[in-house]
Amino acid sequence: MKNILLILITIAAFASCESVESSYNTFPEGEKDHTFSNYDMATTKHLDWNAEIDFDKQKIQGTAKWTFINNGTDELILDINKLEIQSVTVSGQEVKFEIKNKNSVEGDALIIPITENDSIATITYNTNGGVAMQWLNAEQTAGKKMPYLFTQCESIYARTLVPCQDAPANRITYNATVKVPQGMMAVMSAKNPQKKNAEGVYTFEMELPIPTYLIALAAGDIEYKAIDGRSGVYTEPSMLNKCAKELEDIPSMIAAAEKLGGPYPWGNYDVLVCPPSFPIGGMENPRLTFATPTIIAGDKSLVALIAHELAHSWSGNLVTNSNWNDLWLNEGFTSYFEKRIMEEITDKAYTEMLWEIAYQDLQADLKNFKGDKWDDTRLKVDLKNREPEDAFSAIPYDKGALFLRTLEEAVGRPVFDKWLTDYFAAHKFIPMNTGMAIKHMEENLDLKAAGIDLNEWIFQPGLPEKTAYKTSERFAKVDEGRKKFVEEGMNAEGLNARAWSTHEWLHFLRNLPKPLDLKLMKQLDMSYMLTGIGNSEIADEWYLLSIASKYEKAYPAMEKFLKSVGRKKFLEPLYKELVKTEEGKKLAKRILEEAAPNYHPLATKKMRTIVN
Ligand code: BES
Ligand code: ZN
Repeated sequence: MKNILLILITIAAFASCESVESSYNTFPEGEKDHTFSNYDMATTKHLDWNAEIDFDKQKIQGTAKWTFINNGTDELILDINKLEIQSVTVSGQEVKFEIKNKNSVEGDALIIPITENDSIATITYNTNGGVAMQWLNAEQTAGKKMPYLFTQCESIYARTLVPCQDAPANRITYNATVKVPQGMMAVMSAKNPQKKNAEGVYTFEMELPIPTYLIALAAGDIEYKAIDGRSGVYTEPSMLNKCAKELEDIPSMIAAAEKLGGPYPWGNYDVLVCPPSFPIGGMENPRLTFATPTIIAGDKSLVALIAHELAHSWSGNLVTNSNWNDLWLNEGFTSYFEKRIMEEITDKAYTEMLWEIAYQDLQADLKNFKGDKWDDTRLKVDLKNREPEDAFSAIPYDKGALFLRTLEEAVGRPVFDKWLTDYFAAHKFIPMNTGMAIKHMEENLDLKAAGIDLNEWIFQPGLPEKTAYKTSERFAKVDEGRKKFVEEGMNAEGLNARAWSTHEWLHFLRNLPKPLDLKLMKQLDMSYMLTGIGNSEIADEWYLLSIASKYEKAYPAMEKFLKSVGRKKFLEPLYKELVKTEEGKKLAKRILEEAAPNYHPLATKKMRTIVN
């Protein structure tokens, strides 16, 4: 009897093991969320895009000519969202199209009848208020002379710019011709112009296949300055020299990245420094990272963001998550890779600070997942019937990176590095999912000997007990100083903080008691001029502390910051801190309404949910 029970238990254990195993190995995983398109049946391959940008109407008049392969269906289904479709032709003949599922978050399905011999469909349309595009009037730019447009398509907004099969598992090449008003330059995630031309007509080519979320466009008073033969900066003229200086280490970053990723495959690598309304820190648009101007601190202290977007040239742009459930394959790998680039161009002690800041972010974010949300702290998430934005947190980024660091330390850096280089080479240009990543690790690394439990890291919520987390020595010094300052009456001058990096400041400010005694607030401000500081990361932490401590002297500068910067990462914590009190809530509401014209519509929407 006992024996039978033992056998039964063994079988049960085996069976449950099997079910985890089999969830690894499915490819494709059959997860086709967040798209109406039938890219598996009629597969778009190449886009010829013609676009005329109308700043007065804030619309783009476009023609999208798609080349596709018909794998045996009688319809081509594209994703659209807030597009007005004027006409559709197939093989040159006008056809009757259909639009279904109107008004869902994911937009609509554009259904185009095709026959087995067709391979070209052309859609004439105009955009109509979709969220991929942010339109700025001249007043909202640095030069105040010309309006400005930029796009942000990740995760599912390319369909508001161009009708497309908007699923990251589908890759396309593209050519584009974009017409802008005279005096402007247009740039895309493609081969770019380096000079303005008199007609305002620019042509582009992206010859390597990319997922549609990497289609990107910006237009305005943009100029170019080279850093070296392969890299340079695009931005408004008044910022050009400053940005080129700040980002002059890009060539060394690329060299560092190539050691781990293999040769940079995209040709040029440039950065577009956007106006302050840009809603995120950076976006890895191929050949042309889009970045917030808040990284231009004057002392290169925030360039890790560029290392991050550059790293996506491999993890994300070359090896792409097939589905937003697998976002950690893009962001976790990239957050790890970013630190390795920074370690090469700075040193271990500096990079250890980046790791610890990320660890603090992760710990803070883990607290936000309560009750049945806890499952979302898995690396591989389930976003069925939810918006892809729901996966956006420190989990895919910092838990993902910590997992890879733990793996690196367990197998040793030389073995790990070879594995990672092979991982990129083995999966480039094919849809990548978690199951395939696991298979590649299991086949190429001795995980058992290394004591790595993939199931726990990837499919279980929270953090495993044993991780590669370490404390930073430079932060330990900051901790000593903070203790003397807060508990032992040492003057703020005694901190010797003028030599601190941004990260030391963040660590210092984040870990002060809240509220902080107003006398100490004043001392800090007097010694280090924190109110109104130009470094946006430090400013954000300082204003958070100021709100919590009711240090009202900082409020006007905080208001100015909230009105000039559109980066959600900075806005969200400040509005959240403000609404904790009744007067704060009133202030937050007023500032938000006045600031909203400078924010991206999605940022405004998010901040409104916070203040209301
Ligand atoms: N690809 C992301 C931005 C993104 C992710 C947009 C998901 C929409 C959906 C980009 O690479 C990124 O992670 N940017 C970060 C900066 C980075 C240093 C962590 C940001 O914008 O803050
Ligand atoms: Zn990223």
